[in-house]
Amino acid sequence: MSRHFLDLSDAGGDGVAAMLADALDRKAARKGWPKGRADADAPLAGHTLAMIFEKNSTRTRVSFDMAIRQLGGTSIVMDAGSMQLGRGESVADTARVLGRYVDAIMIRTDDHAKLTEMAAHAGVPVINGLTDDSHPCQIMADLLTVIEDGKSLPGLKWTWLGDGNNVLHSIIEAAGLLGFAVDVAVPEGYEPAPRWAADANARGAAVRIVRDAQAAVADADVVVTDTWISMGQAHAEEKLAAMTPYQVTPALMALAKPDALFLHCLPAHRGEEVVDAVIDGPRSGVWNEAENRLHAQKSVLLWALGKL
Ligand code: CP
Ligand code: NVA
Repeated sequence: MSRHFLDLSDAGGDGVAAMLADALDRKAARKGWPKGRADADAPLAGHTLAMIFEKNSTRTRVSFDMAIRQLGGTSIVMDAGSMQLGRGESVADTARVLGRYVDAIMIRTDDHAKLTEMAAHAGVPVINGLTDDSHPCQIMADLLTVIEDGKSLPGLKWTWLGDGNNVLHSIIEAAGLLGFAVDVAVPEGYEPAPRWAADANARGAAVRIVRDAQAAVADADVVVTDTWISMGQAHAEEKLAAMTPYQVTPALMALAKPDALFLHCLPAHRGEEVVDAVIDGPRSGVWNEAENRLHAQKSVLLWALGKL
């Protein structure tokens, strides 16, 4: 059985939980090993992952590449600009061809419809490596990081500060699947697309828009932010000005629970959405979060290829 991982709901709460458990087990089992050495069971030996990037990436590119190696497989990494895709070959035709060569495809693109088009025609599992709509692989790593911090996900309060973007959409989706609350502190005009909170709340989550950053962060277990200007968005002074009250500072973190964890998917724009004292501070989980992209990606690959 093979499955697409276009959003977290493709796996559902049980699938996400199974992936998280597998990632934690594999991470523990290979502690101290050289990073290029395959896991003892090499469950994806003989498998090849193709990766297509229509946007920049450091973490997603390297973590998926190392993930498939640690699972015993290999990867082919392509920038769309150097593919025929970049000269107008359709997503559907690209998918049809790649599906004949490789066992799975990961794509980072802008329009989410390109991802679903790829999935419709590839004949092999397709994984969302970020679109303008969502970033589910990132949130798998975030969930791992919160669990490793000793927190149990159901009932937690997460607070998001800043722009209502793709990363937030996937956090809201996770809240619906795993049963935690999200206070979303965003300025007017920069809200997340309403369908994400509607779906999560229909599943029993508590996702709400809270304009006041201080009120939103009160008693939070997890405080999350991301860049104010995502890839593909124009740099707008007006937007930066609207975001200023949502900058994550030590004063804001002091309102959260004393053991609140600070997360950021990275890359960070220090001095904009977060200041050094927080991202480099004692409650920052960002480096573990970045490492966990690798461990999370392994479990996503295994799930998509029907090994979990
Ligand atoms: N967090 C994240 O997706 O990082 P990259 O853009 O470097 O892949
Ligand atoms: N929201 C950011 C995430 C980068 C990993 C973007 O889309 O650029």
